[in-house]
Amino acid sequence: MQLCFVVGTRPEIIKMAPIIKECQRKNTEFFILHTGQHYSYNLDSVFFKELDLPPSKHNLEVGSGSFGSQVGRMLEGLEGVLVQENPSYVLAQGDTNSVLAAALTASHLRIPFVHVEAGLRSYNKNMQEERNRILADRLADILLPPTELAREILAKENHDPSQTFVTGNTIVDALYHYLPVAQKLTSIQKYGLEPRGYFLVTVHRAENTDQPEVLEQILDGLGMVGERHGLPIIFPIHPRTRTRIGEFGLQVPKCLCLIEPVGFFDFLLLESQADLVFTDSGGVQEECCILGVPCITIRDDTERPETLHVGSNMLAGTTAEGIVAHVEDMLSRPRNWDNPFGDGTAAPHIVDILIELGKE
Ligand code: UD1
Ligand code: UDP
Repeated sequence: MQLCFVVGTRPEIIKMAPIIKECQRKNTEFFILHTGQHYSYNLDSVFFKELDLPPSKHNLEVGSGSFGSQVGRMLEGLEGVLVQENPSYVLAQGDTNSVLAAALTASHLRIPFVHVEAGLRSYNKNMQEERNRILADRLADILLPPTELAREILAKENHDPSQTFVTGNTIVDALYHYLPVAQKLTSIQKYGLEPRGYFLVTVHRAENTDQPEVLEQILDGLGMVGERHGLPIIFPIHPRTRTRIGEFGLQVPKCLCLIEPVGFFDFLLLESQADLVFTDSGGVQEECCILGVPCITIRDDTERPETLHVGSNMLAGTTAEGIVAHVEDMLSRPRNWDNPFGDGTAAPHIVDILIELGKE
């Protein structure tokens, strides 16, 4: 049996890492196929280095571009590599364009496609990620929902229960393993910050960055929060967001401290010691929930409703008023909610499932 891990972006590298490590431990044959969707050092190579991952065997180097040109280049490249390698399974995680391309190509070639983190739904088809999730699940031969709720969503959509396995989310494996490592290697003092003495923010969704009036509202809301609470807000800014702020000529409030995207270890520390996190990221909503840090999501919906149910997260929408409105509530919540994403054994579970299926 040989597994092909398709990765393209920062979160896929981080969330696939525990499965790749498990394959190394179990001597399961695999290779990494990188689409090259992310290519900047701090969105890509830094994670291979920190997480000590083997280099990708193939990198399609598709880079950025419109949906059609980016996915088109991926399809062509994926087809060439998968025909040549003919792996037993193609695995992809999450909801990016790289995942969609992997699902389409594997399915076309009739190579079993395994969707890690299946069954997530925001029910907002305006987001490319939601369309990617639905299509990847539809094409998947094996569906690996992280939670019972995600499994129920798949069952309601008539996915085959005999091909559906609840595994937990590999981000729990990654946090349990890497947070102690990060705590030894780095510290938030290098950013001039004190534990619980700052807020953290990430914003990168196209829906939030690509319309000037929406991005301006978000910046204004964060500025109001910083002024009201007298705390710095540290903002490792995705290149998409930085570019748009420049293009739209928007003012960045003084309390916002913009830094380049950071590596996983620094980000884990920044997250774990923040008083409160503002984000539109899916992975950051999960991580805050697991780390016991309150989170305000700058969106109208989320495909991680588990975080709302346990009380670690609130949806603020994207207006300045919405962002300000939930701060006191989130800061006053006891940080003892349950972790709904599993016990940190998702990766061994996933590899065991595939080994068993491979024997059939
Ligand atoms: C993509 C995913 C999103 C995921 C995010 C992870 C899709 C539709 N979106 O969004 O779901 O949450 O990755 O971070 O797949 N850029 C660089 N360097 C890079 C990559 C991108 O500077 O290495 C800049 C380019 O200007 C590019 C822009 O970021 O145009 C957007 O990149 P893209 O990969 O299209 O989408 P993300 O916003 O990163
Ligand atoms: N992350 C990071 N450095 C940063 C910002 C985020 O290492 O500067 C990590 C974060 O810990 C999480 C992942 O990137 O594991 C989330 O990625 P992103 O928000 O880009 O994507 P999403 O989860 O929304 O798909």
